[in-house]
Amino acid sequence: MRMYDLIRKKRDGETLSKREIEYIVRGFTDGLIPDYQMAALAMAIYFRGMDSRETADLTMAMAASGEMVDLSSIEGVKVDKHSTGGVGDTTTLVLAPLVAAAGVPVAKMSGRGLGHTGGTIDKLESIPGFSVELTEEQFVQNVNTMKLALIGQTGEIAPADKKLYALRDVTATVDTIPLIASSIMSKKLAAGADAIVLDVKTGEGAFMKTQEGSFSLAKAMVDIGTQLGRKTIAVVSDMNQPLGYAIGNALEVKEAIDTLQGRGPGDLEELCLELGSHMLVLAGRVPDQDAAKDLLRELIASGAGLEALKRFVQAQGGDPSVIDQPERLPQAKRFEPFLAGEDGYVSYIHAEVVGTCAMMLGAGRERKDSVIDLAVGIVLKKKVGDPVKKGEPLAILHVNDESRLDETLALLRGSFEIHPSPVPKPPLIYGIVT
Ligand code: URA
Ligand code: CA
Repeated sequence: MRMYDLIRKKRDGETLSKREIEYIVRGFTDGLIPDYQMAALAMAIYFRGMDSRETADLTMAMAASGEMVDLSSIEGVKVDKHSTGGVGDTTTLVLAPLVAAAGVPVAKMSGRGLGHTGGTIDKLESIPGFSVELTEEQFVQNVNTMKLALIGQTGEIAPADKKLYALRDVTATVDTIPLIASSIMSKKLAAGADAIVLDVKTGEGAFMKTQEGSFSLAKAMVDIGTQLGRKTIAVVSDMNQPLGYAIGNALEVKEAIDTLQGRGPGDLEELCLELGSHMLVLAGRVPDQDAAKDLLRELIASGAGLEALKRFVQAQGGDPSVIDQPERLPQAKRFEPFLAGEDGYVSYIHAEVVGTCAMMLGAGRERKDSVIDLAVGIVLKKKVGDPVKKGEPLAILHVNDESRLDETLALLRGSFEIHPSPVPKPPLIYGIVT
């Protein structure tokens, strides 16, 4: 087999066989196929696409290029949840304890964030003492005894994807559905999931800006999962404005605690019930989605979800008293209100720009090696559809380093729009792909 012939084949719109795809992924990972040939292939895929069989084969080959986590010593169906990334997305912090409290194992491998806020690990590390440095034995034991553990990435997960993504990033071949779908799904597969619930975000603050693109991506990922024997379902949800109110690490932990206490933001709770109910159904815990939502609501009302969070924090070295006293989380020194300039109704909040503002305050990493400030961020006071009076706060900025505050406020000014007449609340969930 020669890489030249495989590039030509794809260039001419033919399909690649499983053997050919495995040859390409192995050769590229091992450095036998040079970047320029792989870049040419990525561009050919960009223009010619891949059918769902090719996409599934690419996914499996990339998943198998590194460590494949084996969760078989954990009892039950391991359901993973993945979000394609949104601003202020606090769902994992709510869902992991809630689903665990329902008796479904949550064996989560997570990463740190790049961009608007930290990842799930960063957020949890705002709890004093919390650590993701578990041995594999501890990890498995914790999931078996209390249904929930979270570990940082061990070994190398899907190194072929890592290498290919870096190449796509500099050759304008990132935004093509077969490559995005296989990239995301290869990492989920390697992390050992039996079943996968995907939260595909759509809108200004999302990777996929259009509904059409988001549904296509959702369908491509569900196809891959199904072909590879993993029950997979995707929820397409709104990311035109941030999710919930809080954007920032400790601020989002606080918001997750509020939600588990039954007084979280409506949109965050609704999305958590939607995603969580699919997780319980895929795990076989309940017969249908209605029963799942009832159970999740009960676990919030009884405080069982909050208890699960407390046990989980304690088991991983964190101070569980923070859960009852969130004021013990890192706090910013200064609170700067961002005020409405006119009366009216909030008609638009540009999620991506608000995310960038949170990052500028220090809540997210601008570069991989940036140090983040866990205390800082933005708490929205108004969301789209809310009435507002001139001089009322639209948001509160939690600030430590004031050096970029003026710049941040100016940017924030441009990310809110206020309309003189009432504006309807935008939908949160656009559809489900199975
Ligand atoms: N996220 C990924 O993990 N891969 C992509 O290709 C795009 C977004
Ligand atoms: Ca939030």
